[in-house]
Amino acid sequence: MRQTAASTIGGRMLTATFLLCVGTLAVAYVNAQGLDVVFVPTPRETVNRMLQVTETGSSDTVIDLGSGDGRIAIAAGRLGARALGVDLDPARIRDAELNAQRAGVADRVTFRQQNLFETDLSQATVLTMYLLPSINVKLRPKILALRPGTRVVSHDFTMGDWKADITETNNWRIHFWVVPARIEGRWQVRIADRALDLTINQTYQQFQGTASINGRTGPLRNTRLRAASIEFTVDIDGQSATLRGTVNGDRMQGRSAGGTEWSATRL
Ligand SMILES: C[S@@+](CC[C@H](N)C(=O)[O-])C[C@H]1O[C@@H](n2cnc3c(N)ncnc32)[C@H](O)[C@@H]1O
Repeated sequence: MRQTAASTIGGRMLTATFLLCVGTLAVAYVNAQGLDVVFVPTPRETVNRMLQVTETGSSDTVIDLGSGDGRIAIAAGRLGARALGVDLDPARIRDAELNAQRAGVADRVTFRQQNLFETDLSQATVLTMYLLPSINVKLRPKILALRPGTRVVSHDFTMGDWKADITETNNWRIHFWVVPARIEGRWQVRIADRALDLTINQTYQQFQGTASINGRTGPLRNTRLRAASIEFTVDIDGQSATLRGTVNGDRMQGRSAGGTEWSATRL
């Protein structure tokens, strides 16, 4: 069928007008609800991958921030986890509750009409979200204050300059982080009969710093931090020593690669 130029242009204008109307309605809906982002569901295979990458299982408590129709929390419930979904939109909460009942997981998956910024995240072992880059960045200080080892996965969006531990972009777009222990500052390490002063500068899950012993200062090498597990190499009396251990608030303790016990206290 031949189209005239006039009918093509007319069609495009109609499409543009339609899209403008839909867009305007969506913005009006978001404003009326006080939403920070509209409902767009995560595809099922992406949900599955988000829960795989976080290794979600029956010992987990999952919180989905902005839970929509509940699909992420419900999928976590199917894996035996306890899950909470929060959403500001009451219609989404109603849908999600119905979906949880249909899926037979309502005993361990709950939904709450609540602003995600006001949600207590402290019980989460896994945090899931499909929001926006700016919202992720706004949530970041609260996420970094969670228990070290809390796993965080975001569909599509990054979290500013906090580099993800894993990013997958082939069949889906997801980013995964593990909350690192907070180790910034000065520490005193005791190993055998020696005492070292450490100064640590931390950038999320990476750190660098120096160790001083008997007035000699050298850099920390081979630094590694994952959740509360720490590793670094220092020179002690001209000998290289690799210290591995666990951070617990203002204390660290572990063994050197040679098997000597060490501990550290935050100064
Ligand atoms: C992109 S959808 C994601 C839904 C679901 N998590 C998923 O991945 O399929 C974002 C959801 O966040 C909700 N939302 C937007 N702003 C919110 C806020 N400030 N507090 C809680 N929920 C919010 C919206 O109603 C919407 O259901």
